[in-house]
Amino acid sequence: MTTDRKAVFITGAASGIGLATAKRFASEGWLVGLSDIDGPGLKAALAAIGGDNAGFTVVHDVRKADEWERALDAFVEASGGRLDVLVNNAGICRYGWFDEQTPKDFDDQIDINLRGVVLGAYLGHERLKRTPGSRLINIASLASLAGSPRFAVYCATKFAVRGLSEALDIEFMRSGVRVSCVEPTVIETPLIDKASAPGGPSFREAVSQGMVGGSLTADQAAEVVWRAAHEDALNYPVGDAPAALLLEINPRIEANRARMKEVFAAAPAGT
Ligand SMILES: NC(=O)c1ccc[n+]([C@@H]2O[C@H](COP(=O)([O-])OP(=O)(O)OC[C@H]3O[C@@H](n4cnc5c(N)ncnc54)[C@H](O)[C@@H]3O)[C@@H](O)[C@H]2O)c1
Repeated sequence: MTTDRKAVFITGAASGIGLATAKRFASEGWLVGLSDIDGPGLKAALAAIGGDNAGFTVVHDVRKADEWERALDAFVEASGGRLDVLVNNAGICRYGWFDEQTPKDFDDQIDINLRGVVLGAYLGHERLKRTPGSRLINIASLASLAGSPRFAVYCATKFAVRGLSEALDIEFMRSGVRVSCVEPTVIETPLIDKASAPGGPSFREAVSQGMVGGSLTADQAAEVVWRAAHEDALNYPVGDAPAALLLEINPRIEANRARMKEVFAAAPAGT
């Protein structure tokens, strides 16, 4: 079966930016694949975006390759073979001093924010390349552009996601899949309250004291994801702070990309 209805698969879609993105695409008539580790949250999210006709849900832990395979196969079957956009959005944050976090805090952030995105890019690409004009969109952060105290490992994972996106946008020229990276400033979502350990420094307080900049809404972030699915840039800041940083570093990024594209376009196949 083939269909004209476009299809987007979004990880971490039970909450926050992922849920707002699901609503945004559903409002345009897309079939939306909502994936999350939170099963009950997915049910509520599906109802919020308009029920079975708008969406498809799958409980899926982005850290696990076999769960990625199963989730993507089920979605592509439901979509009639299409995967136009994959949004690698699921992520967590552990806010606090580096030396007061635990190895488990480090592992959890690295496994979900980085390993999950690498697996999504790898297994998603297999399916994206069968749909002409398809895109991979990775959700990084303002924390991918500036190292910030109390976010050290979170920043490390998000810098990595931005680097991965930059490299893959050139690699995937071979299959016609575009890659974009979205860099939101602080966004008002449940992540802000989940990030702080009991008794540790509070991300919520840091936001209210203006220590980490002002916050925007999940709908504002979703609007930028929608643009990233339709325009041609590599990086999509959400908010003034990431926009200002990208303005400074974009000339270097674009010069390097132009050089790399030239080198790899000229390289013999297989090198
Ligand atoms: N909220 C912010 O201030 C902010 C700013 C910049 C970037 N981001 C990034 O945006 C993305 C979404 O964050 P949010 O603010 O909407 O957070 P959120 O906590 O509201 O939503 C994250 C979702 O990811 C899911 N999730 C967690 N672990 C998972 C796993 N192993 N497998 C599958 N799903 C899993 C959660 O269940 C949750 O539904 C994250 O990558 C985050 O790092 C957030």
